[in-house]
Amino acid sequence: MVKGSYELASKLVADMIRDELEKKPNMILGLATGSTPLGVYKELIRLHKEEGVDFSNITTFNLDEYVGLGKDHPQSYYYYMRNILFNHINIREENIFIQDGKAEDFNRECERYDELIKEKGGIDLQILGIGENGHIAFNEPADKLSVGTCIVQLTDSTINVNSRFFDSIEEVPKTAITMGIGSIMQAKKIILMADGEKKADIMKKLLESKYISTDIPASLLLLHQDLTIVLTRSAYKL
Ligand code: F6R
Repeated sequence: MVKGSYELASKLVADMIRDELEKKPNMILGLATGSTPLGVYKELIRLHKEEGVDFSNITTFNLDEYVGLGKDHPQSYYYYMRNILFNHINIREENIFIQDGKAEDFNRECERYDELIKEKGGIDLQILGIGENGHIAFNEPADKLSVGTCIVQLTDSTINVNSRFFDSIEEVPKTAITMGIGSIMQAKKIILMADGEKKADIMKKLLESKYISTDIPASLLLLHQDLTIVLTRSAYKL
């Protein structure tokens, strides 16, 4: 576990991505949206523009997308990734994968996404944020968690938290398509990032817990053999 300022945490994660990239220029990178990784993406853009880091051979898979929002919707995760990262580095369009929020057949879309990840050789490094309720990707606390990519009903807590990106809470989609816990756990390396006081309670629970539980989906990560947890000071209350 590493602790520091948000800037330091972001640089550290970006450096870990750079290290992987040096070892494997065609690495498969799993990406998250939301507020937490913004600093990492900013630093990756800087590394590209100022230090010539080359992203032309990487492939990315995003964790999730809202059901019903197309690529051009300003609140879709596809749109976010374009604006925040992809438009500013030299990744190739054909190497970007995000679930289709407008798919005609969502069962097929879930299968297609998992098949694609396998076909590309699996995720080398997965970046994760954590929800205040312990969700990872959109795997919400529940009795059962899905192994593969699936459709989930967002909890009221997540809808509430994510409404900050929408004009009103009514506009937040109630359903999302998300990578499952199994797909995440199959990543060779995982970095879980947490920033802000709002994450302090869940991080304390997670780090002090001696058990795994589907009530805290992130707790399953504790079984992963190559997990790095990067916390900013504000998210740390042990
Ligand atoms: C986003 C995602 C979510 C977020 C989590 C934290 O793709 O999968 O699990 O990582 O909700 O969001 P922020 O970073 O906005 O606090």
